[in-house]
Amino acid sequence: METRNSRTEKVSQKMKPFEQITSKINSELHYKLPRKWKKIGNIGILDLSNIDTKERNNIAKIYADVIGAKTILQKNKISGELRKPEDTEILHGNETVTEISEYGIKYKLDLAEIMWSPGNIGWRSALSGPDKVTDFYTFDRPNTIIDYFAGIGYFSIQMAKGYPEAEIIAIDKNPKSVEYLSLNAKNNSVENMKIINDDCRNIEMKADVIHLGYIGNTIDFLEHSHNCLNENGIVIFHEVFRNNWLGFKSRSDWGAIPEKFSKLMDEKNFTVQKFERVKFYGPSTSHIIAKLKKN
Ligand SMILES: C[S@@+](CC[C@H](N)C(=O)[O-])C[C@H]1O[C@@H](n2cnc3c(N)ncnc32)[C@H](O)[C@@H]1O
Repeated sequence: METRNSRTEKVSQKMKPFEQITSKINSELHYKLPRKWKKIGNIGILDLSNIDTKERNNIAKIYADVIGAKTILQKNKISGELRKPEDTEILHGNETVTEISEYGIKYKLDLAEIMWSPGNIGWRSALSGPDKVTDFYTFDRPNTIIDYFAGIGYFSIQMAKGYPEAEIIAIDKNPKSVEYLSLNAKNNSVENMKIINDDCRNIEMKADVIHLGYIGNTIDFLEHSHNCLNENGIVIFHEVFRNNWLGFKSRSDWGAIPEKFSKLMDEKNFTVQKFERVKFYGPSTSHIIAKLKKN
């Protein structure tokens, strides 16, 4: 027999998550409630900064229950060269370490210490994802691949799996990232990776491929990459550019390699082989990826 409780449960299952959340919170607060949040592993990140501190934890618990998160963190700034989250505030729960599965790889990380960009999903798949990504990450029998900004292994682990005959050198300056990188390499049974905790510009090792999975001032690392690449070596270059500068006004413009970009890379002694948008980055800028060949 259908009881009142099971009926209420059925109704709430049909409701969208935000409707479920508002149905449990005083209507006077609804206009302050965030409609968007990120769920990374089993941790939710949302902005409750405009809610009175007395109410925040109760509201965070409601979000946690509805979105199925064990912990809720206040959204905060990711800052500095090491991309560390600033003063993480736990709104609900206490565990900040989580695990993410992406294209067959499991990554553990502490979200109080390290960033994770959900928007880059797909692009971290190297050889195990969509064709357009595989195209960028297909290299001709590389012996050595260096990842200059390895983080917790976002790209290095996939490249190690995709190129079992190659040696992957994964470098990161942040000791916390390196701690999780080592753990993630072990948990994913990676055996062809050497991990270095240092500034990549201090490392003079030679490579066939250098991966620059960073944004902000990646261009400043091209000269060092050039010096460290073997003949015909390849750089995978991530960066953010203004759409205007790239000459992109509409979606249909995103087909060709932008002339200004080719010229800039030519000045850096690289030829652009491929170019794509990873994602919009704010209203007028885009995160792009390019495959560059050393001249
Ligand atoms: C945030 S991660 C990249 C994020 C990743 N691409 C993703 O898909 O989520 C960038 C990493 O570069 C590292 N880093 C920044 N500058 C560095 C440098 N000069 N040498 C080595 N590592 C550096 C930071 O510590 C950080 O772990």
